[in-house]
Amino acid sequence: MNDIRDEVAAGFEEIHGRAPLGIWSAPGRVNLIGEHTDYNQGFVLPFAINRRTVVALGPRDDATIRVASAFADELASIELADLAPSRLDGWSAYPLGVAWALGQHGADLGAVPGVDIYIESTVPVGAGLSSSAAIESAVAIALDEVWRLGLDRQTLAKVGRLAENEAVGAPTGIMDQSASLLGREDHAVFLDCRSLQSELVELGFAEAGLELLIIDTGVSHSHATGGYAARRASCEAGAAAMGVSSLRDLTVDDLPRARTAMDDETFRRVRHVITENQRVLDTVAALRAEGPLAIGELLDASHVSMRDDFEISVPELDLAVETAQANGAIGARMTGGGFGGAAIALVPTEGVSRIQVAIDGAFAEHGFGQPTMFTVTAAGGASRDR
Ligand code: GLA
Repeated sequence: MNDIRDEVAAGFEEIHGRAPLGIWSAPGRVNLIGEHTDYNQGFVLPFAINRRTVVALGPRDDATIRVASAFADELASIELADLAPSRLDGWSAYPLGVAWALGQHGADLGAVPGVDIYIESTVPVGAGLSSSAAIESAVAIALDEVWRLGLDRQTLAKVGRLAENEAVGAPTGIMDQSASLLGREDHAVFLDCRSLQSELVELGFAEAGLELLIIDTGVSHSHATGGYAARRASCEAGAAAMGVSSLRDLTVDDLPRARTAMDDETFRRVRHVITENQRVLDTVAALRAEGPLAIGELLDASHVSMRDDFEISVPELDLAVETAQANGAIGARMTGGGFGGAAIALVPTEGVSRIQVAIDGAFAEHGFGQPTMFTVTAAGGASRDR
């Protein structure tokens, strides 16, 4: 981590011609369980991972905001007063969208100083590990401090979501930014997306001799297009058919009535969300009572529900999950929004390399592109680092 902070400081100096005021960072996240429940006001259980986006920032003496990064040639520059979702696009819509969204949450963009920003990241892009939320959260805590806004982390999560929804155009929920801002080492963030109350839940993977393996299929996904919004619309239609404001108001006891209240496809979307909420609660209870060795079946069941009921898996994700399960994983599931991205497998430490070899072999056999695999640990949330 020290290296990347040095690199970001040097990158800032090279582009902006002076040393930054400070360095902030925020992690990507992996979702242990609770998929497509956040925008249904349900429960999620993600954790922040040991891959971070690092931001160097320095104030300017005018009202311009400029952002540059190690991963794009573009130096984006705009007057703070001109910030508007319709004027933002490309990767800079994430950091600039956050500046705009802070304006929607009380920052006086006519009075705060302009800033220069430089960004670098070790969160893989397109792997379903929320590289976007890592940028949003790092920029949000940096601007909050430099602009002396004093917003709490729940509000900063809302700021990041607003940037994602309006400036980037992806109709996502609050999970990713919450995990990035609220994470803690060796803990998951159990979040009620209705009240935004959260609790930290100890994972204890290392103690139990387990590792969390990420299998990035390399199949790219974008939540600003198609499938994600369609699933969200189905959930809203299902809630309306049941006469509730969100699917959070339903439990497994409502499933028989739901089956007769809507078409089969909508019913299956609803069944996924209702049962997934229950699986999150069961996973939290199992972690607390028995530890991580007890959560495997819940992870497996979550995958089946996403594959068959919510229909957001792809053949590469199914193969990764099945191969991991067949080779000794405690449990496995696709993670994140779906339609590509990554799967996770909870694996005994001594079995990690065997499972990787098996997955590589299975992908080659099926003619799929080679997946990228690595283990992650639960890390702390967004922080000021220098
Ligand atoms: C994406 C979104 C999240 C959440 C997940 C699905 O990661 O950004 O808000 O909806 O998909 O659980």
